Amino acid sequence: MLTKTSIDKGITSGKNVRLLSVLLISLLLIPAVQGQGASEALQECPSTLTGSTQPQQIHLQTTENPSEMNVLWATERRGNAEVQWDGQSAIGESYCYNHDMAFHLATMTGLEPGEEVSYRVGDGNTWSSEISFTTIDPEANRFEWISIADHGISGEADLVSDAILADSDAQMVTISGDISYANGDQSIWDDYFNYNQNSMQTIPWMTSVGNHENEPGIEFEAYQHRFDSEGEIEVEPFWYSRNLPGVHMIFMSSEHPYDSSSAQFSWLENDFSTIDRDITPFVIVYSHKPMYSSNSYHGSEFELRESLESLFITNQVDIVIAGHDHFYERTHPVKAEVVQVAGEAPVHLVIGIGGRDAYEELDEPQPEWSAYRENNTYGWTRLVYDGEAQTLDLTHHRTDGTIGDSFTLYVNQPIIEPEESYIYGFEPFFTLLVIIAAASRKGISF
Ligand SMILES: [Fe+2]
Ligand SMILES: [Fe+2]
Repeated sequence: MLTKTSIDKGITSGKNVRLLSVLLISLLLIPAVQGQGASEALQECPSTLTGSTQPQQIHLQTTENPSEMNVLWATERRGNAEVQWDGQSAIGESYCYNHDMAFHLATMTGLEPGEEVSYRVGDGNTWSSEISFTTIDPEANRFEWISIADHGISGEADLVSDAILADSDAQMVTISGDISYANGDQSIWDDYFNYNQNSMQTIPWMTSVGNHENEPGIEFEAYQHRFDSEGEIEVEPFWYSRNLPGVHMIFMSSEHPYDSSSAQFSWLENDFSTIDRDITPFVIVYSHKPMYSSNSYHGSEFELRESLESLFITNQVDIVIAGHDHFYERTHPVKAEVVQVAGEAPVHLVIGIGGRDAYEELDEPQPEWSAYRENNTYGWTRLVYDGEAQTLDLTHHRTDGTIGDSFTLYVNQPIIEPEESYIYGFEPFFTLLVIIAAASRKGISF
């Protein structure tokens, strides 16, 4: 249902005028509190939209409730939104924004964990084909997903999309921002969703917002209307979290205020307080801009680091997965540019290699906190949580079929990694002893 605010025309007394003022001011403030830019109510679609009622751009989005799944799609002509699944049906919302397509959102409810669901979407007359997906069981002992960033549409991006589709074990995709690179041309979003529909309609693609979602003239309007995490398009948050098997995922926005006085910071503090590490031993933050990057094009986002690094360390974030710089880099566990013992600080990944032109120039020498980097490849990161082994495996796959990097996180144990990376986290005196011992072995004298 479209949200409408009605005001009683009979209000005339001074007291009521004051009440009305408070109400109006409150309404003006609500979008800011929710972290949105310019507020807009859902826009009804014009009758002038012509073309097919055939659903396209069908894609799934998880909600906070694992027994639900949102499905979104588009049509050329306006019409109703209905989803049918396993003998049930639900009516959703249809709406428009500054583009000549109608958009639809409906929610499947009462889903059993780990079960295959068959569904179709349509307007009651024209339907999509039958589509199947398997719900995520939050208590499962294994969970596999793919993380990408800086995707768009290109030959390399298509290889990444095709690889995602080919991985029949992947249960979810995350994008750390810079999704379609529509940059104001809304038909590019249409192409992006249609190209990736075969995957998106069977596994949810969850997103952090990037700077390229802030489009000329319409800001984040396309992102807000085309993705959804709460089933309410008009209050689309730019930061939210999900509990997946073994992993608590936070999707934050580096494109909105995040300093200690911001709504996002307060939300992050509160979200961290809700995490039960017995249920989700790993915590991953998805952000578009990176706190650590040794690429010369953008580099580390220092404001982000100053605002949030200590919060992430205090709350024992395991991995931060960002993009923005179009290369691959993995840091050692790091705090204030000083390498730490594993478990004492997050590992930061930049994975902006989803298909956009590579940023090849790197800072030299390679900073000590940078564990691995490569600057002219494209690919995706595959992550696997294993509840038996209590591990999280990450593998950086290149589009040429080779593997560029891989590492394993153990709950409460060090990363499997080259040994030299750990000396920096020890007490300074011990570190000095190690350096002197190593130097004497190599015949270096001070
Ligand atoms: Fe970016
Ligand atoms: Fe980018």
